[in-house]
Amino acid sequence: MKRTGLFFLVCALTLTTMAQRADYNIIPLPLEVKADTTQTLRITPATGIAYDSGNAEASRIAQFLQQWVKETTGIQLRLTPDDKKAQVRLVLNAKFKAPEASQTAAEAYTISVGKKGVELCAAEPVGLFRAAQTLRKSLPVVKDGAEAVELPYVQIADQPRFGYRGVLLDCGRHFFSVEFVKQFLDAMALHGCNQFHWHLTEDQGWRFEVKSLPDLAKKGSVREKTVIGPSRMRIYDNIPYGGFYTQEECRDVVRYAAQRYINVVPEIDMPGHMQSALHVFPNLGCTGGPYPVAPYWGVMREVLCGGNPETLTFLKTVFGELCDVFPSPYIHIGGDECPKERWQKCPKCQAKIKELGLTDESHIGSEGGRGSQDGRSAENKLQTYINHEIEQFLASRGRSIIGWDEILSGGLTENAIVMSWRGTKGGVAAAKQKHRVIMSPNVYAYIDHPQLKDYGKQPRTTDSYIVSCSKMYSFEPIVPEELAEDEQDYIMGVQANLWTEQVAYPEHAFYQLLPRLASMSEVQWCQPARKDFEGFKTRLPWLKKLYDKLGYVYCNEVE
Ligand code: ACM
Ligand code: ZN
Repeated sequence: MKRTGLFFLVCALTLTTMAQRADYNIIPLPLEVKADTTQTLRITPATGIAYDSGNAEASRIAQFLQQWVKETTGIQLRLTPDDKKAQVRLVLNAKFKAPEASQTAAEAYTISVGKKGVELCAAEPVGLFRAAQTLRKSLPVVKDGAEAVELPYVQIADQPRFGYRGVLLDCGRHFFSVEFVKQFLDAMALHGCNQFHWHLTEDQGWRFEVKSLPDLAKKGSVREKTVIGPSRMRIYDNIPYGGFYTQEECRDVVRYAAQRYINVVPEIDMPGHMQSALHVFPNLGCTGGPYPVAPYWGVMREVLCGGNPETLTFLKTVFGELCDVFPSPYIHIGGDECPKERWQKCPKCQAKIKELGLTDESHIGSEGGRGSQDGRSAENKLQTYINHEIEQFLASRGRSIIGWDEILSGGLTENAIVMSWRGTKGGVAAAKQKHRVIMSPNVYAYIDHPQLKDYGKQPRTTDSYIVSCSKMYSFEPIVPEELAEDEQDYIMGVQANLWTEQVAYPEHAFYQLLPRLASMSEVQWCQPARKDFEGFKTRLPWLKKLYDKLGYVYCNEVE
């Protein structure tokens, strides 16, 4: 063999060996990683995974880990419950000390790889689950399966920055199957997310079965046609479109999510974005209808009548059944984009305003925004009255409400959590009023928007500003100049939102999601000092290999 041939053979062999080593520079980057790459531990099919067989969660996490190691490397580890000498050990230790004494302590974990094997340690099963995900992402993806992989010695100590790390999926504009929702949850878990915001109702379709109102989902879930291209053109496909989730399916999703330490936050968006419900119950609208399930996108002026007592009866029925199905401590009540044009003219709404003694102070808190009329008008206060009634109702079920930042306009109800989407102003204002906040500002966190500058390179989507990976990455939800230290504690976390007016298919949904979710995961998980977009970009190819292995569709460019 010529010298050059030999050189390339040696290089190829070296690369092969290197490809089978783990790399702990994963996404999201753990808090502390101290690796000693001069020493390694071998993992082979003879390697066992030990866990406490008396603990159902630890047993399940061990099975997950076994499945992930097999999926990534091809190596089938043995499950060896309670074997203290096993090479991989999942250890639950009540005395485990989290790196930071914060709300996320239960999710903290350590991983140590050394002479004695691999030890994953946490106080709670959720911490073990996060540790197992980190180990999974550190493993080399081996195309045709390996006989062994090498783990460099390491000490990892990790804990997420924020307790609320969410992603919204809009299943109102387009319906996504339970099977897809589970894939979405798997992708979330892979990125360390723990809150699935399930947007279940929209003008264009009602997706949640309410057993005592069977027509609501049956009729409210179907639109006669869907607009093609821009809404203003009103060109339709003339194809009926529908779908809803039975309560049994919702329970299945909740169970699936819980096994992955994800809470499902269901949203019934009210009193706006309710045209699908108005289609079924036109008496709940100010004008009496008829109302079609909306066939185009935008902000509809037809909303629930704020003065009709039946509106509250309806909402309590819906939220009551929602609570039966979803154990989430938070229930999202929507509250965004509710034009008040109908309420201003509706005798019932005006009579209710009078009865409650609500006065117009619209000069207070007027910031403007798409489709909504900010300011403390009597009508916005009427929305606050409805929120208050529902807040009380949900509190009697032990739940807190979350609402989009428009709920600030008429005045926040006592325990409302604000989801700040029209920038961060609403979130900052709410934190100053000592309300909990989830930051989801559209310019940083809306993944229905394009991710590349060149529109031609990506599927058609919400054609407005670009939310690139780097833009998303640059988001810092806590600005000390805006919030004092005690106010900063009200920021629960950050959420990315996937609206689906333009996203009808699973592949497109994943293209919008990835790799931006990777970018978002570092905003949600990493302390600011750990964040570095250039570093992120060097770590991303490793994660993309796992995306490929999992068959995920993703955008292959990063801007
Ligand atoms: C929203 O994007 N309308 C919350
Ligand atoms: Zn009305």
